[in-house]
Amino acid sequence: MTALFATPAHAAGNAGSTPAWAMLAYLAAGVFFILALRGLSSPATSRAGNRNGMIGMALALVTTLVTHDIANIVEIGIAILLGAIVGVTVARKIAMTAMPELVAGFHSLVGLAAVVVGLAAWLNPGAFGIVDAQGQILAVSRVELGLGIAIGAITFSGSVIAFLKLSGRMSGSPIMLPGRHVINLGTLAAIIALIGVYTVSPEGGAGEGYLIIAVTVLAFMIGFLLIIPIGGADMPVVVSMLNSYSGWAAAAMGFTLGNSAMIITGALVGSSGAILSYIMCRAMNRSFISVIAGGFGGDSGGGAGGEAREQRPYKQGSAEDAAYMLEQAESVIIIPGYGMAVAQAQHVLREMGDKLKEKGVEVKYAIHPVAGRMPGHMNVLLAEASVPYDEVFELEDINSEFSQCDVAFIIGANDVVNPAAKTDKASPIYGMPVFDVDKAKQVFFIKRSMGGVGYAGVDNDVFYMPQTVMLLADAKKMVEGIVKALD
Ligand code: TAP
Repeated sequence: MTALFATPAHAAGNAGSTPAWAMLAYLAAGVFFILALRGLSSPATSRAGNRNGMIGMALALVTTLVTHDIANIVEIGIAILLGAIVGVTVARKIAMTAMPELVAGFHSLVGLAAVVVGLAAWLNPGAFGIVDAQGQILAVSRVELGLGIAIGAITFSGSVIAFLKLSGRMSGSPIMLPGRHVINLGTLAAIIALIGVYTVSPEGGAGEGYLIIAVTVLAFMIGFLLIIPIGGADMPVVVSMLNSYSGWAAAAMGFTLGNSAMIITGALVGSSGAILSYIMCRAMNRSFISVIAGGFGGDSGGGAGGEAREQRPYKQGSAEDAAYMLEQAESVIIIPGYGMAVAQAQHVLREMGDKLKEKGVEVKYAIHPVAGRMPGHMNVLLAEASVPYDEVFELEDINSEFSQCDVAFIIGANDVVNPAAKTDKASPIYGMPVFDVDKAKQVFFIKRSMGGVGYAGVDNDVFYMPQTVMLLADAKKMVEGIVKALD
C-alpha cells in the first residue's frame, strides 16, 4: 500500500532534478499570471494585465523547452507555428459579437488536451515518469490521471454544447430530459467509483483498461447532459463555469506532466472562474450550489427565441425627437446591451455622449453584469470606444439614480431592463436584478423592431410605458442620426 501511494518520479524529480533557476522561473511565471488577473479586473489596467499574462506564458514556455529533453524540437516548433497562425488569424477576424462562442470553443480545446494527455500517460506511463519499480502506474498518478481525463472530458463536451447554443447552431432553449437529476448524479457517482476502482486495482487486472475508457465515455456524456438543460438567461453562468472547469482540467494535466507552472496556472484559472461563476450567480440571483449540481434553472422555459406577443399601443420617435429631448436633459444614463454589440454602435455612442457633455448634460453609462453575451462584454466595447472609465457604473452603484435622472437611454439592451424580473414569478428571468429604468422621467429604447425579443424571449413592459419612446432602427444608424441632429 505504501508503494502504491509513493511519489511519482517526475514529481520527485521536479524538486530534485529541475534546476533551481527553472523553479524560480516557474514561480515568477505564476506571479505574472496573478498580476495578469489583477490587471484584468479593471478596464483601466486590463492592457497591462494582458501584457503580464503574455510575459508569464513566454517565461513558462521557454523554461519548459530549455529544461526538458526534447525528442523532436522541429515537430514542436511546427506545432507552435501552426497554433500561432490559427490564433492570430482567429483573433484578427473574429467579430466582437462572436466572442462568447469563441471563448466556449477555446475552453473545449483545453478540455480535449487534458483528455489526450491523460490517455497518453495511461498508455505510456513510463514516458511520463509515473511508474514504480515494478512498472505499475502509481496510485496517486492514477487518481490525477482519472480526474484529469474526467474533468477534461466534461469541459470538452460541455463547451461544445455551449458553443453550439451561443452561436445559434443549436436552440438556446433548455432541453429537459425526464429524471435528469437522477441521471446526472448517478453518472457522476459512477465516474468517481470507477476512478476509485482503477486506483486500487492491481496493474494488469482484468478489465482495468475498460475502467479508464468507461470514465472517459461517461465524462463526455455528463458534460453534454449538464449543459443541455441550461438555456435562456442562465447561459452566462455556464460560460464562467466552463471557464473554471477548463482551469481545473489544466491543473490536473499539470499533475500528470509534473509541471508546477501548469498546476499554478490551472488553479488560478479554475479559482478565478469559480469566483466569476459566483459573481454571475449573484447577478442572476441563482444559487451557486444548484449551479454546481448542474441542470439548474430553466425549469420555467425561456431561451433565445421569439414568442407571440400581444399588440399594445406604444410611442415611436425619430432621431431628431431624441436629440431634442437629450440636449434638454440635465442627466442621461445610457444602458448598452447585446444590440449595441451587434450594431457596433459603441464609437458613435461615445461621440453622442461627448456632444451631450459639451452641451452641459451629465452622461453616465450603466452596465449590467450579464449584458451582452459574455462577462465584461459591454465594458470591453466601451473601453474600445475610449469611453472614460469614470463614466461607467455597475448595476448596484447606479440603480438608485434612475429615479432622479431625466433620460434613460437604452441601446440594444432588453432583458437587463425588463421589470418582469421583479414582478412576474412565471418569467424565466424572475429574480434577476434589473435596471429600474421605469423610474426615469423619460425613456428612449433603441431596437430594430417591435417583433424582436431579448435573449430570454419575453415581452417587456418598458416598451409600453407612457414615458417611453421607441426608436426603431439599427442602433448605429439611429445614434448616427441623433449625432447629426445634435450638430
Ligand atoms: P438582450 O436581452 O439579448 O436584447 C438584445 C436587444 O438588442 C433586443 O431587444 C434586440 O431587439 C436588440 N438588437 C439586436 N440587434 C440590434 C441592432 N443591430 N440594433 C438595435 N437593436 C438591436 O440583451 P441584454 O439586455 O444585453 O441581455 C443579455 C441577455 O443575454 C440576458 O438574458 C443574459 O442572461 C443573456 N446572456 C448573457 C451572457 C453574458 S455572460 N453576458 C451570456 C449568454 C446569455 P431587435 O431584435 O428588435 O433589434
